[in-house]
Amino acid sequence: MAAMKPMLLLVQMLLLSLDLVNMAYGEEYAFIYSGFTDQNITLDGAAMVTRSGLLDLTNGSVRLNGHAFYPSPLPFRKFSDGMVQSFSTSFVFGVQSSYPSQGFAFFIAPSKNFSSALAVQFLGLFNNQNNGDMKNQIFAVEFDSIKNIEFQDIDNNHVGIDINSLTSVDAFPAGFYDDKDGTFSNLTIASNEAMQVWVDYNGDTAQISVTTAPMGVVKPLKPLGSIIHNLSSVLSEMAYVGFSSAAGRDNTRHYILGWSFGLNRPAPSFDITNLPKMPRFGPKGRSKVLEIILPIASAVSVLSIGTVIFLLVRRHLRYLETREDWEVEFGPHRFSFRDLFHATEGFKNKNLLGIGGFGRVYKGMLPVSKLDIAVKRVSHDSKQGMKEFVAEVVSIGRLQHRNIVQLLGYCRRKGELFLVYDYMPNGSLDKYLYGQEDKQILTWAQRFRVIKGIASGLAYLHEEWEKVVVHRDIKASNVLLDTEMNGRLGDFGLARLYDHGADAQTTRVVGTIGYLAPELASSGKATPLTDVFSFGIFVLEVTCGQRPIKEDISGNTTMLVDWVLEHWQKGTLTDAVDVRLQDDYDLGEVSLALKLGLLCSHPFADARPKMQQVMQYLQGQVPIPEDMPPNLSFEMLTLMQNEGFDSYIMSYPSSITNHSDASHASCAAMSALSGGR
Ligand SMILES: *[C@@H]1O[C@H](CO)[C@@H](O)[C@H](O)[C@H]1NC(C)=O
Ligand SMILES: *[C@@H]1O[C@H](CO)[C@@H](O)[C@H](O)[C@H]1NC(C)=O
Ligand SMILES: *[C@@H]1O[C@H](CO)[C@@H](O)[C@H](O)[C@H]1NC(C)=O
Ligand SMILES: *[C@@H]1O[C@H](CO)[C@@H](O)[C@H](O)[C@H]1NC(C)=O
Ligand SMILES: *[C@@H]1O[C@H](CO)[C@@H](O)[C@H](O)[C@H]1NC(C)=O
Repeated sequence: MAAMKPMLLLVQMLLLSLDLVNMAYGEEYAFIYSGFTDQNITLDGAAMVTRSGLLDLTNGSVRLNGHAFYPSPLPFRKFSDGMVQSFSTSFVFGVQSSYPSQGFAFFIAPSKNFSSALAVQFLGLFNNQNNGDMKNQIFAVEFDSIKNIEFQDIDNNHVGIDINSLTSVDAFPAGFYDDKDGTFSNLTIASNEAMQVWVDYNGDTAQISVTTAPMGVVKPLKPLGSIIHNLSSVLSEMAYVGFSSAAGRDNTRHYILGWSFGLNRPAPSFDITNLPKMPRFGPKGRSKVLEIILPIASAVSVLSIGTVIFLLVRRHLRYLETREDWEVEFGPHRFSFRDLFHATEGFKNKNLLGIGGFGRVYKGMLPVSKLDIAVKRVSHDSKQGMKEFVAEVVSIGRLQHRNIVQLLGYCRRKGELFLVYDYMPNGSLDKYLYGQEDKQILTWAQRFRVIKGIASGLAYLHEEWEKVVVHRDIKASNVLLDTEMNGRLGDFGLARLYDHGADAQTTRVVGTIGYLAPELASSGKATPLTDVFSFGIFVLEVTCGQRPIKEDISGNTTMLVDWVLEHWQKGTLTDAVDVRLQDDYDLGEVSLALKLGLLCSHPFADARPKMQQVMQYLQGQVPIPEDMPPNLSFEMLTLMQNEGFDSYIMSYPSSITNHSDASHASCAAMSALSGGR
């Protein structure tokens, strides 16, 4: 340990006393951290220094920011109007994560105050409002293991040069060039291995270069990427340097092992043998001490084994689970029933969040990690399809996106399946649309953000992930709101579970009346375009503040989409907007949403846009077509739809109802399930 004692140099020296030279080259500054134990470094948010001296930017918590700064600002410009001087930084980092993780960034910023920055894909640097704003005066180099369409990320393992925005000015797949033959080798950012980075800026040529390499490789001559961008128009006169990071999921770690920086000189280089080591990842090895103690301990325990067996048998029955051989491969995603039982205090009614078409949802807190979870308890006794379903659950658990409710894992017991999700404290969107439970009505800006978020989540499911995932049950009550009121899609794949049970002749259609695409009645096949249809209805629902099937006082029903279409044809489109907004909205956004809703819920699947196009419309990159294909036959098709679907199982229009009408909804849900079989 003593040998690893890190040192911090602050060289502050005047090169030459000649004024002219001094003006041209400025003063030199440098510092180096070889490990961070007992060092002067400013920490913020989740950032901490571990006992072994690693700078841990995220401390394993979920959706928190962490920042670390060199304590004092550095004079990047010699004068307030002078150009930004050359600088160079070098650091060693390691990312540990069992899942794809949001990354971290090296940055230069005018202040240490990042209190308004958001976590997850905003990397703790920006938020919805200021992303892209010149006033940020922030330069950053991001290391990102998630492909975020919102920021036009190139892939899920890239190094990006960011100026005032998370949409990188330029980005490069992580890797390095061999000095001898120039061949390119990939590097995996979230590999649990330490790797080196150099960022250099030349004030005379305005060239920014980023170089990465595995540990022990000398700095490659050819940088990973290099751009010309004059930072004189970006940085403030005095600026802070540091690291920022934001974890999406539990137990992601972004470690910095060592860091050096030089202004007007190269960054001091490390002796890498002096750096703290990355902690081991995965299950702990058995220690020597344990190997000696274990036999003794087991001898002692033989005495008490009689009582223990009795207790164990009792307990075994209580926490009995169903496990089969094929589940071995899904081990890490399986929760023990015992943990879930304790988390929800034995599935007590006071922890019941709601009851829906597929089962009851309980709130809980995991015993060890103290993570808040929502557990969905689904009764299911069909063996058939269970393996495929679990495989799908596990693969869905690997999906990670800000607009998707994270599925953490599952558990099985006789006749029951438990799905474990991240807990969403703000509940489902429909409550806010229809003003239930005294929730405030969402403003237009919040609604539009939710629409964009869900579009982005759905685009990820359909087009960005390694395989196409069809959600099958998009609706306001399946959209949950996180602490920042972002919309997140929940309840994946459940529809699928009931599909598997069906025999070959009759394909069962699962979904919610009012959101089902007409072609589902004939083909029964859920596709991305049937999701787009439901998304369209969802957009109309959010914009109009009305359920997909409107019912007037005398009990007559109209389809919301027909009603909006009528307004569109009469040229009174804005009359369809939710009156509760009291005309407080952006006219352009509202009419975009209504037109998009109509286009997506077009009765002919071919006329609907793909989610990628939907994103382009929403981001204003492509104008929405004004001459939409005629929608006239809709009424007829919806009539067919209503008749065709009556005998199928449906989840309920409000899949999470509130506690007071729980028993009522549950009876309805049960009869729907049994009636469907
Ligand atoms: C991580 O940091 C946050 C914010 O400072 C703190 O609330 C939390 O307790 C920390 N978690 C751990 C495991 O240290
Ligand atoms: C850490 O650095 C800051 C800024 O340079 C300085 O004000 C402070 O006194 C230092 N703290 C310690 C403990 O050295
Ligand atoms: C940090 O910035 C926020 C606004 O972005 C402001 O409300 C807060 O007072 C600032 N904190 C400090 C310590 O300056
Ligand atoms: C490097 O990564 C890219 C993109 O992920 C992939 O196409 C390529 O095959 C990889 N090359 C090697 C040598 O692994
Ligand atoms: C960068 O901008 C500054 C100020 O606008 C200017 O003085 C300098 O010449 C520019 N550098 C390059 C390389 O263009």
